[in-house]
Amino acid sequence: MVRKVTILDLQEKKNGQHPITMVTAYDFPGALLADEAGVDMILVGDSLAMTVLGHSSTTNVTMAEMLHHCKAVSRGAKRPFLIGDMPFLSYQISAQRAVRNAGRFIKEGNMDAIKLEGGHEVLKSVQAICQAGIPVMGHLGLTPQTATKLGGYRVQAHTGVTAKKLYDEALALEAAGCFSIVLEAVPAPVARIISQKLTIPTIGIGAGNECDGQVLVFHDMLGLFDQFKPKFVKQFANLKPLILAAIKTYCQEVEARTFPAQEHTYKIDQTEFDKFLAELK
Ligand code: KIV
Repeated sequence: MVRKVTILDLQEKKNGQHPITMVTAYDFPGALLADEAGVDMILVGDSLAMTVLGHSSTTNVTMAEMLHHCKAVSRGAKRPFLIGDMPFLSYQISAQRAVRNAGRFIKEGNMDAIKLEGGHEVLKSVQAICQAGIPVMGHLGLTPQTATKLGGYRVQAHTGVTAKKLYDEALALEAAGCFSIVLEAVPAPVARIISQKLTIPTIGIGAGNECDGQVLVFHDMLGLFDQFKPKFVKQFANLKPLILAAIKTYCQEVEARTFPAQEHTYKIDQTEFDKFLAELK
């Protein structure tokens, strides 16, 4: 049986200054790949609203859709610590509703923890979910669910005042019980100070290389989503041209009747085939 990554392992990595690796995954094959590659954590991110479901914002995705993808990921990933992303309005209405929805990620989605976005405005929900025994990952900086309110997908905490606000919110989330916090689109020096101050691990995305770990969106890092490319995305592979070429070759071979070839085709014993033809007369 595979030994699962635990919160203690993640904390040990921070304490030993060994960077934590995290990627998003949304389905069974993606989870198998991330697990085999050896990542510490998989986030079933609500980014799937855009990368997989074709919405223009993460706000469209529902609890039912998130749970559907969490279940698939949990069937594929056995070693990484699994985090389900709580969708917009599943944790903001009341702490009670937040606990109920967070519980569904654990009981139905087979996740190990949940992530939610925001600072002071979500503290009550964070506390209630933690008190229910569910590990919570925070998310500060660019919070895509409220990107409209922030004026778009843009760098956050880039003034003295807003950097201090982010710093205070990170401390408040830690005090409320979060086991880790994602920092998205935050200037690297600000993320460094916060990472040094917090005792829990920070996971950066567009927050420099001095966070305690990094996360990237699966489709972004593999070149599978080119509708929107933030500055902080590095494409570690460009799979789109490979996939396009493969599908085009398939179409050409079907049209030329060179696929399926003999090796892809089932045979029938000649006597049985003759019997079949006789049956048709
Ligand atoms: O939904 C997501 O993929 C995320 C990451 C960008 C951290 O929240």
